[in-house]
Amino acid sequence: MAKIFVTRKIPEVGPELLQATGHEVVVSEKDNVLTKEELVAALGAAPYEAVLCLLTDKIDDEVLAAAPRVKIFANYAVGYDNIDLDAAKARGVLITNTPAVSTSQSVAEHALALLVAVGRRIVEADQFVRDGHYRGWDPMLFITPDLVGRTLGIIGAGRIGSRLAFHAARGFEMKVIYHDIRRNDELERTLDVKFETSVEAVLQAADYVSLHVNLDQSTRHLINRERLALLKPNAVLVNTSRGPVIDEAALVDALREKRLAGAGLDVFEFEPKLVPGLAALPNVVLTPHIASATEETRNDMAKMAAENILAVLAGQTPSNLVK
Ligand code: GLV
Ligand code: GLV
Repeated sequence: MAKIFVTRKIPEVGPELLQATGHEVVVSEKDNVLTKEELVAALGAAPYEAVLCLLTDKIDDEVLAAAPRVKIFANYAVGYDNIDLDAAKARGVLITNTPAVSTSQSVAEHALALLVAVGRRIVEADQFVRDGHYRGWDPMLFITPDLVGRTLGIIGAGRIGSRLAFHAARGFEMKVIYHDIRRNDELERTLDVKFETSVEAVLQAADYVSLHVNLDQSTRHLINRERLALLKPNAVLVNTSRGPVIDEAALVDALREKRLAGAGLDVFEFEPKLVPGLAALPNVVLTPHIASATEETRNDMAKMAAENILAVLAGQTPSNLVK
């Protein structure tokens, strides 16, 4: 029987699975992100052997040092840029994530929702009606392009990007192009999706661009000022990956200068803060990092994180080891 710390309340199925196996689970009672000091103090309070942590917990060497018996930090997220992987490796601590099939589906659905919301100006139109401006049907009101036949550029064609490609190609009959550091043969074989050799080529050709890369040093500000300038004036940019993939201040300037038509953002560079000017722009739709927030996915993530912990405590290799 081991002691396991869960850094914040998550769906019950996770803690229950751990308890059902006879482990003792302590869930943080604070309903907010623990500060570094709180996390270090909480980890030092008992001889924990496993931690279920969130993407909002920064797991660096200091945190790892505070929990010397912990064998695994099971991140409740697909992304793991919140964890210092080198430091964990040096201490022999295993890191896992939760790339559930359902996660890819939920995030792809949310990316599509943002794409449609910005592309068809749904939020602006909603505000227009609420503000009492609707005076009757008008043949010139809120005219936007169709999605059908337009080009969607996907940057990062892993599980999530591939799922989005499927829905866009099959559901909206969009042309889909993508760039990734690894070519996705299966995607090209199963859907009529075209590989582009650079990010630039995608940005120049696409009417809609959706980002699905992990955040690391190679993708920080992947969408910078120079690359934003390559977008078509009618382009819509969607980000459900990680905020720092876009230079958000440069995006605000580009939107103001109408270098692109709009943006749909579920993640922010300085989350939960927004860069000045972003919230005042009419042609952006902003959601609070909820792309994976469906019942199915959050339950699957909780179960997956718990199973990763159970595997490690049983001396096995967890299914979702991050390398
Ligand atoms: C959410 O952002 C995740 O990485 O799962
Ligand atoms: C996420 O797991 C992805 O690779 O898209």
